[in-house]
Amino acid sequence: MRDVIEIQTERLRLRPLRMSDAARVARFAGDPGVACMILRAPTPYLECAAEGWIMTLNARKPLDEDFVYAVDREGEGLVGTIGAHKRGDESFEVGYWFGRPYWGQGYATEALRGFISEACTLGALQAGHFADNPASGRVLQKGGFAYTGETENLFSIGRGASALVKRMLYTPALERGFGAREALAC
Ligand SMILES: CC(C)(COP(=O)(O)OP(=O)(O)OC[C@H]1O[C@@H](n2cnc3c(N)ncnc32)[C@H](O)[C@@H]1OP(=O)(O)O)[C@@H](O)C(=O)NCCC(=O)NCCS
Repeated sequence: MRDVIEIQTERLRLRPLRMSDAARVARFAGDPGVACMILRAPTPYLECAAEGWIMTLNARKPLDEDFVYAVDREGEGLVGTIGAHKRGDESFEVGYWFGRPYWGQGYATEALRGFISEACTLGALQAGHFADNPASGRVLQKGGFAYTGETENLFSIGRGASALVKRMLYTPALERGFGAREALAC
C-alpha cells in the first residue's frame, strides 16, 4: 500500500490529498449530514483546519500508519476521501465520506472496492458505522465487510455526543488468514 500512489476505478481516481483540496474538504466534511456520521470533523470546519489535517497526514506518511486518498471525479475535483488508519492491534480501520452533492451515485461503493483491492494487503481491515447510518453499512457490505455483532459507543464531534457504532470486518481478509482474533479482540 505504501507504494500505491493512485488507484483508478471506472469513474474515480484515488490520489494523494493536496493543500488545494482543503476548501472542498472543509465544505463537504463540514456539512452536518457528513460530520455527524464521522468522528473527527470539526464543526464548523474551517479551510485552515482542513489544511492542518492534510499537513498532518503528509507529515505522518513515513510511519506507514495512515493511507488516505482524495477521491477525485474528473471535471469535479475532490468528491470525498477514503482511507485506512492503523489501530493499536495492528489491524486497520477503514473510513470514508463523500460530499452531499455526490451521494446516491455509487461513488462510495466504487471507491471502497478500488481502495480495498490495494488495502487488503495491509492485513485485517475493520470498519464501523453509526447505527443510524444504514447507507454506509450497505456500502461496506457491498465492499466485502460483514457485521461482527459487536457494537461500541463512539463520540462524534459533529454530533456533540456519543452514539452506537456497529462493527464490521473485511471477510475475504479473514478467509485468507489475516489476524481475525486480534482484530476482534480490541
Ligand atoms: C454513506 C455514504 C458514504 C454513501 O455514499 P454513496 O456514494 O451515496 O453510496 P453508494 O451510492 O455507493 O451506495 C449507497 C447504498 O446505500 C443504500 N442506502 C441509501 N440509503 C439507505 C438507507 N437509509 N438504508 C439502507 N440503505 C440505504 C443505497 O440504496 C445504496 O445501496 P444499493 O446500491 O444496493 O442500492 C455517504 O452518504 C456519506 O459520505 N455520508 C456521510 C459520511 C459517512 O457516512 N461516512 C461513512 C462513515 S461510516
